[in-house]
Amino acid sequence: MDWEKRFQDNSTPWERDGLHPAAQDWVTAGVLSAGRRVLIPGCGRSREVVHFARLGMQVTGFDLSYTAIHWQAGALDQAGLHAELVEGDGLAWTPAAPLDLIYEQTFLCAIPPGLRETYEACAHRWLKPGGRFLALFMQKDERGGPPYGCSLEAMHELFPADRWIWPEDEAFTPYPHPNLNGKPELGGILTRR
Ligand SMILES: C[S@@+](CC[C@H](N)C(=O)[O-])C[C@H]1O[C@@H](n2cnc3c(N)ncnc32)[C@H](O)[C@@H]1O
Repeated sequence: MDWEKRFQDNSTPWERDGLHPAAQDWVTAGVLSAGRRVLIPGCGRSREVVHFARLGMQVTGFDLSYTAIHWQAGALDQAGLHAELVEGDGLAWTPAAPLDLIYEQTFLCAIPPGLRETYEACAHRWLKPGGRFLALFMQKDERGGPPYGCSLEAMHELFPADRWIWPEDEAFTPYPHPNLNGKPELGGILTRR
Protein backbone atom coordinates (compact mmCIF):
# COMPACT_ATOMS: atom_id res chain seq x y z
CA MET A 1 0.00 0.00 0.00
CA ASP A 2 1.47 3.38 -1.01
CA TRP A 3 -0.05 5.49 1.76
CA GLU A 4 1.51 8.75 0.61
CA LYS A 5 -0.03 8.34 -2.84
CA ARG A 6 -3.42 7.53 -1.30
CA PHE A 7 -3.36 10.84 0.56
CA GLN A 8 -2.10 12.75 -2.47
CA ASP A 9 -4.92 11.26 -4.57
CA ASN A 10 -7.49 11.77 -1.81
CA SER A 11 -8.28 8.07 -2.09
CA THR A 12 -8.91 7.63 1.63
CA PRO A 13 -12.23 5.81 2.20
CA TRP A 14 -11.30 5.00 5.82
CA GLU A 15 -11.59 8.68 6.80
CA ARG A 16 -14.58 9.87 8.78
CA ASP A 17 -15.96 13.38 8.40
CA GLY A 18 -15.71 14.16 12.07
CA LEU A 19 -14.68 12.67 15.35
CA HIS A 20 -15.02 8.89 15.67
CA PRO A 21 -18.10 8.16 17.84
CA ALA A 22 -15.94 5.86 20.00
CA ALA A 23 -13.61 8.78 20.75
CA GLN A 24 -16.63 10.81 21.75
CA ASP A 25 -17.83 7.97 24.02
CA TRP A 26 -14.39 7.65 25.64
CA VAL A 27 -14.28 11.42 26.22
CA THR A 28 -17.73 11.28 27.84
CA ALA A 29 -16.59 8.35 30.00
CA GLY A 30 -13.54 10.35 31.14
CA VAL A 31 -11.04 7.91 29.63
CA LEU A 32 -9.66 10.57 27.29
CA SER A 33 -9.07 13.62 29.46
CA ALA A 34 -6.76 16.55 30.08
CA GLY A 35 -3.15 15.92 31.03
CA ARG A 36 -2.92 12.36 29.77
CA ARG A 37 -0.24 11.35 27.28
CA VAL A 38 -1.89 9.75 24.27
CA LEU A 39 -0.44 8.29 21.07
CA ILE A 40 -2.43 8.14 17.85
CA PRO A 41 -0.50 5.65 15.69
CA GLY A 42 -0.96 6.10 11.94
CA CYS A 43 -2.93 9.28 12.65
CA GLY A 44 -3.44 10.10 8.97
CA ARG A 45 -5.75 13.10 8.70
CA SER A 46 -8.04 11.97 11.53
CA ARG A 47 -9.65 14.71 13.57
CA GLU A 48 -8.67 13.18 16.89
CA VAL A 49 -5.21 14.83 16.94
CA VAL A 50 -6.69 18.34 17.16
CA HIS A 51 -9.62 17.26 19.30
CA PHE A 52 -7.47 15.56 21.94
CA ALA A 53 -5.02 18.49 21.97
CA ARG A 54 -8.00 20.80 22.51
CA LEU A 55 -9.01 18.68 25.50
CA GLY A 56 -5.61 19.48 27.03
CA MET A 57 -4.07 16.08 26.38
CA GLN A 58 -0.38 15.58 25.50
CA VAL A 59 -0.81 14.18 22.02
CA THR A 60 1.65 12.39 19.73
CA GLY A 61 0.64 11.34 16.23
CA PHE A 62 2.91 9.44 13.90
CA ASP A 63 2.45 8.59 10.25
CA LEU A 64 4.50 7.46 7.27
CA SER A 65 2.85 10.03 5.05
CA TYR A 66 4.32 13.51 4.68
CA THR A 67 1.00 14.77 3.33
CA ALA A 68 -0.93 13.50 6.35
CA ILE A 69 1.55 14.91 8.87
CA HIS A 70 1.65 18.22 6.99
CA TRP A 71 -2.18 18.29 7.11
CA GLN A 72 -2.16 17.67 10.87
CA ALA A 73 0.43 20.42 11.39
CA GLY A 74 -1.78 22.86 9.47
CA ALA A 75 -4.90 21.87 11.41
CA LEU A 76 -3.10 22.32 14.72
CA ASP A 77 -1.71 25.66 13.60
CA GLN A 78 -5.13 26.87 12.57
CA ALA A 79 -6.56 25.84 15.94
CA GLY A 80 -3.63 27.41 17.85
CA LEU A 81 -2.83 24.05 19.43
CA HIS A 82 0.25 21.87 19.83
CA ALA A 83 0.93 18.16 19.44
CA GLU A 84 4.05 16.12 18.72
CA LEU A 85 3.95 14.97 15.09
CA VAL A 86 6.35 12.32 13.83
CA GLU A 87 6.76 11.50 10.15
CA GLY A 88 8.14 8.02 9.47
CA ASP A 89 7.82 4.38 10.44
CA GLY A 90 6.03 4.35 13.77
CA LEU A 91 7.32 0.91 14.63
CA ALA A 92 10.82 2.41 14.84
CA TRP A 93 9.69 5.19 17.21
CA THR A 94 10.13 5.40 20.98
CA PRO A 95 8.29 7.83 23.26
CA ALA A 96 10.30 10.20 25.45
CA ALA A 97 8.19 9.09 28.45
CA PRO A 98 5.76 6.18 28.97
CA LEU A 99 2.27 6.71 27.60
CA ASP A 100 -1.06 6.64 29.42
CA LEU A 101 -3.10 5.79 26.34
CA ILE A 102 -2.89 4.54 22.79
CA TYR A 103 -5.85 5.44 20.60
CA GLU A 104 -5.85 2.70 17.98
CA GLN A 105 -8.01 3.76 15.04
CA THR A 106 -7.39 1.72 11.87
CA PHE A 107 -3.60 1.44 12.27
CA LEU A 108 -3.51 -2.23 13.22
CA CYS A 109 -5.64 -3.10 10.19
CA ALA A 110 -3.29 -1.05 7.99
CA ILE A 111 0.01 -2.75 8.75
CA PRO A 112 0.86 -6.11 7.19
CA PRO A 113 -0.18 -8.94 9.56
CA GLY A 114 3.49 -10.04 9.73
CA LEU A 115 4.21 -6.82 11.66
CA ARG A 116 1.43 -7.22 14.19
CA GLU A 117 3.57 -8.91 16.83
CA THR A 118 6.10 -6.10 16.53
CA TYR A 119 3.30 -3.58 17.07
CA GLU A 120 1.99 -5.47 20.11
CA ALA A 121 5.52 -5.49 21.59
CA CYS A 122 5.86 -1.74 20.89
CA ALA A 123 2.45 -0.94 22.40
CA HIS A 124 3.33 -2.93 25.53
CA ARG A 125 6.69 -1.19 25.82
CA TRP A 126 5.34 2.30 25.11
CA LEU A 127 2.50 2.16 27.67
CA LYS A 128 3.13 2.46 31.37
CA PRO A 129 1.81 -0.42 33.53
CA GLY A 130 -1.93 0.16 33.82
CA GLY A 131 -1.87 2.16 30.59
CA ARG A 132 -4.78 1.61 28.25
CA PHE A 133 -5.03 0.55 24.64
CA LEU A 134 -8.23 1.99 23.18
CA ALA A 135 -8.94 -0.55 20.49
CA LEU A 136 -11.12 -0.22 17.42
CA PHE A 137 -10.72 -3.63 15.82
CA MET A 138 -11.84 -3.46 12.18
CA GLN A 139 -14.03 -6.46 11.31
CA LYS A 140 -13.71 -7.52 7.69
CA ASP A 141 -12.73 -10.64 5.82
CA GLU A 142 -11.74 -9.44 2.37
CA ARG A 143 -8.75 -7.27 1.43
CA GLY A 144 -9.26 -3.59 0.56
CA GLY A 145 -10.09 -0.31 2.32
CA PRO A 146 -7.92 -0.36 5.40
CA PRO A 147 -6.49 -3.62 4.16
CA TYR A 148 -6.53 -6.27 6.89
CA GLY A 149 -9.35 -7.37 9.20
CA CYS A 150 -8.79 -7.88 12.92
CA SER A 151 -11.08 -10.67 14.12
CA LEU A 152 -11.48 -10.88 17.89
CA GLU A 153 -10.06 -14.39 17.80
CA ALA A 154 -6.86 -13.13 16.17
CA MET A 155 -6.74 -10.20 18.59
CA HIS A 156 -6.90 -12.54 21.59
CA GLU A 157 -3.84 -14.31 20.24
CA LEU A 158 -2.04 -11.05 19.53
CA PHE A 159 -2.81 -9.44 22.91
CA PRO A 160 -2.44 -12.38 25.30
CA ALA A 161 -4.11 -12.35 28.70
CA ASP A 162 -0.80 -12.58 30.58
CA ARG A 163 0.19 -9.17 29.10
CA TRP A 164 -3.18 -7.45 28.67
CA ILE A 165 -6.37 -7.31 30.74
CA TRP A 166 -9.34 -7.70 28.44
CA PRO A 167 -12.72 -6.01 29.07
CA GLU A 168 -14.94 -7.99 31.40
CA ASP A 169 -17.73 -9.88 29.59
CA GLU A 170 -15.88 -9.17 26.33
CA ALA A 171 -17.87 -5.93 26.23
CA PHE A 172 -17.07 -4.45 22.82
CA THR A 173 -19.20 -1.82 21.10
CA PRO A 174 -19.69 -2.10 17.32
CA TYR A 175 -19.18 1.16 15.41
CA PRO A 176 -20.24 0.68 11.77
CA HIS A 177 -18.01 2.59 9.37
CA PRO A 178 -20.01 5.07 7.23
CA ASN A 179 -17.80 4.69 4.12
CA LEU A 180 -16.88 1.02 4.24
CA ASN A 181 -20.28 -0.58 3.63
CA GLY A 182 -21.04 -0.28 7.33
CA LYS A 183 -18.26 -2.68 8.30
CA PRO A 184 -17.94 -2.43 12.05
CA GLU A 185 -14.99 -1.60 14.22
CA LEU A 186 -15.28 -3.18 17.65
CA GLY A 187 -14.45 -0.63 20.35
CA GLY A 188 -13.08 -1.78 23.68
CA ILE A 189 -10.27 -1.07 26.13
CA LEU A 190 -7.34 -3.38 26.90
CA THR A 191 -5.19 -2.56 29.91
CA ARG A 192 -1.45 -3.19 29.86
CA ARG A 193 -0.32 -5.39 32.76
C1 LIG B 1 -6.21 3.22 7.32
S1 LIG B 1 -5.22 4.64 7.57
C2 LIG B 1 -5.93 5.33 9.06
C3 LIG B 1 -5.60 6.77 9.29
C4 LIG B 1 -6.30 7.37 10.52
N1 LIG B 1 -6.00 6.62 11.72
C5 LIG B 1 -7.77 7.46 10.31
O1 LIG B 1 -8.51 6.71 10.97
O2 LIG B 1 -8.21 8.29 9.49
C6 LIG B 1 -3.68 3.96 8.14
C7 LIG B 1 -2.60 5.00 8.40
O3 LIG B 1 -1.44 4.36 8.92
C8 LIG B 1 -0.30 4.93 8.31
N2 LIG B 1 0.78 3.92 8.38
C9 LIG B 1 0.79 2.68 7.83
N3 LIG B 1 1.91 2.02 8.17
C10 LIG B 1 2.62 2.87 8.98
C11 LIG B 1 3.86 2.77 9.68
N4 LIG B 1 4.62 1.67 9.62
N5 LIG B 1 4.27 3.82 10.44
C12 LIG B 1 3.51 4.94 10.50
N6 LIG B 1 2.33 5.09 9.86
C13 LIG B 1 1.89 4.08 9.12
C14 LIG B 1 -0.74 5.29 6.91
O4 LIG B 1 0.07 6.27 6.32
C15 LIG B 1 -2.18 5.76 7.17
O5 LIG B 1 -2.25 7.12 7.45
